[in-house]
Amino acid sequence: MGSNHTGADRKIPAHVAIIMDGNGRWAKQRGMPRTFGHTQGARVVEQILEDADDLGIRYLTVYAFSTENWSRPAAEVKALMNLLRRYMKTSLVKCAKNNVRIRVIGDKTKLEPDLQQAIAHLEEETASNTGISFQIAINYGGRDEIVRAVRRAAREGLLVDASAFDETALGSCLDTAGLPDPDLLIRTCGEQRISNFLLWQIAYAELYFTDKAWPDFDRAELEKAIDAYNHRERRYGGIK
Ligand code: FPP
Repeated sequence: MGSNHTGADRKIPAHVAIIMDGNGRWAKQRGMPRTFGHTQGARVVEQILEDADDLGIRYLTVYAFSTENWSRPAAEVKALMNLLRRYMKTSLVKCAKNNVRIRVIGDKTKLEPDLQQAIAHLEEETASNTGISFQIAINYGGRDEIVRAVRRAAREGLLVDASAFDETALGSCLDTAGLPDPDLLIRTCGEQRISNFLLWQIAYAELYFTDKAWPDFDRAELEKAIDAYNHRERRYGGIK
C-alpha cells in the first residue's frame, strides 16, 4: 500500500480510466524514436495494472489505440499493433496468476485476424477471473462505439418500440456493457481534452490532468490522482 497516502477514510474509485498520452514526446526528448516511448509505455501499463489492483481499484480502462490513430505513419501503427499482439500473448499466465479479467473495447473487426484471435483467446481464458477487470481500448472511438451500439440495438429489435429504448438499453449495447461508469478519468502529458474516449460513460467522471508523460507515470502519480479525486465533491447534478 502507498506510503503516506493511506488514510483509512480515503475513497478508492471503483473504476479508473486513463488516456495514456505523451509516449512520443517522452521518447523524442531522449533522442529516441517514438516507438521507444510506446514500448516503455506498455511496460508502465503492466505496472499500473498491478498497482491499481493493489490499491483496490476494481476496473481499469486504458486508451491504447484510437479510431484516429490509423492516420499515424504505417511503421508506428505497426509497432503499436505488435506491442498489443505481444501483450495479448504474454499476459495469459500473468492474468491467471493475478486473477485479472481482460476485455478489449473498440471495433475489433478492423484488426489483423491473428490479433483478433489472440484477443478472443485472452478474453475467454480470463472471463471467469474475479479480480480486477482490465479493459484495453483498441481501434476505439466514443462516437464510433455509440453508432455501433445503435446499430446493434436495431439488429436486436430494441428500437421497434422506440419509446421503450432508454439509457439502460443503449448502455447494454455498448462495448462496456456490464461495467460501471468510470469514477475518475486521468490524462497524462499536459493536454486537457477527452479525444473521443468513453464519451457516454464519463458523464459524471471526475477529470484529472497531469503534466507527467505516460512513460513516467507510476504508482505515486496514481495515488496523487486518487487523492485529488478524494477532494472532489461529486453531486451528480444534485445539491449537497
Ligand atoms: C499516446 O502517446 C499513446 C498512444 C497513442 C499509444 C498508447 C499505447 C501504449 C502505451 C501501449 C499499449 C500497450 C498495452 C499493453 C495496452 P502519443 O504517441 O500520442 O504521444 P505524443 O502526444 O507525445 O506524440
